Amino acid sequence: MAEYKQALVKDGKNPEGLISFPVFITQKEIDELDSFIVLDRDTFVVAYPKSGTTWMEQIVHLLANNGEQGDKILSEAVPWLEGAATCYGGLDRLIKDSGERRYFHTHLPLSLMPMFGKTKAKYIYVARNPKDNVVSYYYHARSKMGYDGNWSEFIQLYVEGKVGYGSIFDHVLDWWKVSQHSDNVMFVKYEDMTKDLAQVVTDVANFIDIPLTSDLRDAVVAASEFSAMAINPKANLDWFPQREGIPKHMRKGIVGDWQNHFSSEENLLFDAIYQSRFLKFGLEFEF
Ligand code: A3P
Repeated sequence: MAEYKQALVKDGKNPEGLISFPVFITQKEIDELDSFIVLDRDTFVVAYPKSGTTWMEQIVHLLANNGEQGDKILSEAVPWLEGAATCYGGLDRLIKDSGERRYFHTHLPLSLMPMFGKTKAKYIYVARNPKDNVVSYYYHARSKMGYDGNWSEFIQLYVEGKVGYGSIFDHVLDWWKVSQHSDNVMFVKYEDMTKDLAQVVTDVANFIDIPLTSDLRDAVVAASEFSAMAINPKANLDWFPQREGIPKHMRKGIVGDWQNHFSSEENLLFDAIYQSRFLKFGLEFEF
């Protein structure tokens, strides 16, 4: 079976456990996060990969920047915390404290989030139904992670948590549970973003205390629609090396594409896991 190239990182909550990470994020990069001082005025966009991270980054960035895209590409405006060594030449560039609010994005599981619960920082967690997530992840693995296996091999690795950031079921559930009793964690579903973007923009602005006029709301919605982001070189992630011939980051942006990929056996398997890992804890998704 084709391997998904991975680094293994110690799981913060289970000393025996290891979590699979993208190959360029090793234990060293994760250990370095111990020196990252989270400030009360920090905001983190958090998501399991392929759940709408970039979409929420764009919303937060536009809200913080008066609706303007500005000069920076999104990955610079809302930098990737654990990707600092690879993308920005080290964590030092991220931890400058200029006295302003700081915005980051991360895919870290709750157990590895630096200083979680010790500050007033805000966390916006975006979650997506696992069926659409695995489809998006499959194309991402092939396009950006050098994965050469086929769909049925990938779906097996995914269910076993042997892809970057481990099991979606652990990741989402831990953040869901903490969101239920923490005022600093907002849990947003990708499917709700597709249904009523203006409402999500309003809720996010309230959560991170950014005064929202109707003009600002409309500007943020317009510039964070799929069609706008797809042609925006500062937001479409085209700068990330991607393999030719495979759909790019801004692929389809819809709910339900899983129906074009899943066999009936795969569907039954996902329904069973969804039932026992999410529904049982009151966490529902639309598919
Ligand atoms: P698809 O591959 O299903 O199209 P992430 O940023 O976490 O990697 O998530 C990427 C997924 O979010 C991709 O899903 C991408 O198309 C989708 N996405 C990004 N921006 C979007 C937007 N403005 N509207 C809808 N989906 C968006």
